[in-house]
Amino acid sequence: MQLQIAIDGPAASGKTTVARATARRLRMLYLDTGAMYRALAYLALRTGTDVDNGAALARLAATMPIEVELDESAPLGFRIFAGGAELDETVLAGNEVTAIVSAVAAHAEVRSAMVDAQRRIAGKGSVVMAGRDIGSVVLPGAAIKIFLTASLETRVARRRRQLEQAGVDVDAHGLGAELQERDRIDSTRAVSPLEPAPGAHLIDSSDIDADGVVDQICALVRSLCAERSRRKG
Ligand code: DC
Repeated sequence: MQLQIAIDGPAASGKTTVARATARRLRMLYLDTGAMYRALAYLALRTGTDVDNGAALARLAATMPIEVELDESAPLGFRIFAGGAELDETVLAGNEVTAIVSAVAAHAEVRSAMVDAQRRIAGKGSVVMAGRDIGSVVLPGAAIKIFLTASLETRVARRRRQLEQAGVDVDAHGLGAELQERDRIDSTRAVSPLEPAPGAHLIDSSDIDADGVVDQICALVRSLCAERSRRKG
């Protein structure tokens, strides 16, 4: 039987690190869906497409498809292609893409294309998926739903580390404001705003490292399995 784990939460709450480590520990597939919205934002920049025009962005995604290949050994934990060209973390996490990605992700037409693709990917096997609407929209039937948060201070420190590792210029003073602005756009948009899915377990990772969060998720998986086998027996 396939297991689906949905991990949602605000920017830099540790979702991708935790999702990837959980997938590795439980031998499941892994996808960070934020990368797909970032890939479309990159295409919009490259083609000069208006980020406020949802129909034009959806057409762009249809003509230059965003494709994902699940591959644990790849640097991101999966490979992502936009219009046939592979994108790396420096491009995806770059400041230009980050500045417009929330606007790109706010459009219903864009979200519907991405959600369809994400569900197709989830059909490949047991999966851990990270994003903003995974537990509520993409995989509402997921067996385990996590809403991961952390204090702004912790999130700024994590994002700074991640950007430095990816070789992206970091404006330390702007990071907090940027995270808050993206969270504001993601939480107040009309379509699939960021909010805990019904039944989601809230985990605050401010004072717990990624391994500690993965331990908590694995404990939830164990109790779910025990509950299922009790019901069967
Ligand atoms: O997780 P991230 O910072 O890479 O996400 C980039 C943007 O994409 C973020 O502003 C919100 C959006 N996003 C979304 O709306 N739904 C998802 N499932 C994943 C990301």
